[in-house]
Amino acid sequence: MAYFITVEGIDGAGKSTHLEFIQSYLNKKNIQNKLTREPGGTEIGEKLRQLLLHDDMDVGTETMMMFAARHEHLITVIQPALQSNISIICDRFTDASYAYQQGGKGIDKSFVKSLEELVHPNLTPDLTFLFDLDPDTAHSRISNERNLDKFEKQSSTFFNGVRKVYLELAKAHSRFHVIDSSQTIDQIQQVISKKLDELVK
Ligand code: TMP
Repeated sequence: MAYFITVEGIDGAGKSTHLEFIQSYLNKKNIQNKLTREPGGTEIGEKLRQLLLHDDMDVGTETMMMFAARHEHLITVIQPALQSNISIICDRFTDASYAYQQGGKGIDKSFVKSLEELVHPNLTPDLTFLFDLDPDTAHSRISNERNLDKFEKQSSTFFNGVRKVYLELAKAHSRFHVIDSSQTIDQIQQVISKKLDELVK
């Protein structure tokens, strides 16, 4: 059995720390897996990521490019892995397009939905961890770190919109597990282990 696990959250909510933990959990259970990310995860996808994270563009262009990168990722990495019984841990997936392009930038939900139906009509994650944190705390966590990309430089109004859509998605889909990112790393890892125990049992 191969699992498709995605990890989401606003920038600065701390998901990166926990991606490797999820991978080491699967490794310990001898579940073959691959850790990958969006936008990116393929040669073309990583090139598109550079444009997406650093160049300003119309939000429609941005949304279609996210899905172009996703299409390449699905065809060349995600679907072949799942078909070969290799689980996927994906650092962001389509939920991020709803949260960022719809919730943050205000594109119509139907625009994202049409692309979702076109690009992956029959695939949804088995489990989605949503790292939730208030945007001001999240921003203070990243602002000292390095040169910020175009999304990380957005205002707290933008991130409130992103967070709102993420939380709406979490309410609507039982595959979501919301994690309060203000907890300690140990507390968070206990929650993740418990949820993964339920998934792989
Ligand atoms: P990250 O990999 O450092 O989290 O950065 C990826 C950025 O891209 C992040 O700010 C969220 C954004 N993004 C979107 O706006 N839409 C998407 O569909 C995806 C996958 C990411």
